[in-house]
Amino acid sequence: MAERERGVQTLIQDSDLLVVDYPPGKREALERLLEKSFEGWYLRHSKRTIRNIETVKAALRSGAPVGLTMLKKLDERYGYVFYIAVAMEERKKGVGGRLLDEALAHFGRLGMIGVYASVEEGNEASRKLFQSRKFVHISFGDESKKHGVVRTLMMYRTMRVVPGEILLYRDLG
Ligand SMILES: CC(C)(COP(=O)(O)OP(=O)(O)OC[C@H]1O[C@@H](n2cnc3c(N)ncnc32)[C@H](O)[C@@H]1OP(=O)(O)O)[C@@H](O)C(=O)NCCC(=O)NCCS
Repeated sequence: MAERERGVQTLIQDSDLLVVDYPPGKREALERLLEKSFEGWYLRHSKRTIRNIETVKAALRSGAPVGLTMLKKLDERYGYVFYIAVAMEERKKGVGGRLLDEALAHFGRLGMIGVYASVEEGNEASRKLFQSRKFVHISFGDESKKHGVVRTLMMYRTMRVVPGEILLYRDLG
């Protein structure tokens, strides 16, 4: 555990769950979680993303990673939850919610005004998780009115929103 936690900052602690920052050099240890949570394109993309993305937080139980989230600043005002995943045997116990709460707190500390996330249309667990933290479904049209079409296209590209996914948003104000 000491080895795992060296160089990572403890952010939240309760009786047996810690949420910590994982710097780039330590992230290989989290790849198994991705392998258990994603397949196909998502698995390949999540494995590439975790190596370079600016912020990765992991939930540790008894020192072992049981969940993770990957976070990115889209610009100075908006954050994006790129991926969130929880080990199969740890699901529906509040781990995803804890990770998402910490993600929102992280973007809040950075002064962001809103946070985006995208989920696959049929992914009920993911949709419920974001719904539980007051994310709402938004459309390309809504976003274009807010940011303009060109800016919205760029944001969608950065967020890698692909067909079959819906975009969610939560104001931090
Ligand atoms: C999506 C995921 C991260 C949720 O993690 P979790 O630890 O099970 O979530 P929590 O236990 O914190 O639950 C959060 C909320 O979602 C709801 N929820 C979670 N899984 C659910 C499911 N399968 N069906 C319905 N609701 C579900 C919970 O009831 C809870 O709602 P509440 O706060 O209103 O009670 C997890 O299912 C997962 O890793 N899935 C595979 C990877 C994935 O699809 N990630 C999302 C896209 S990047």
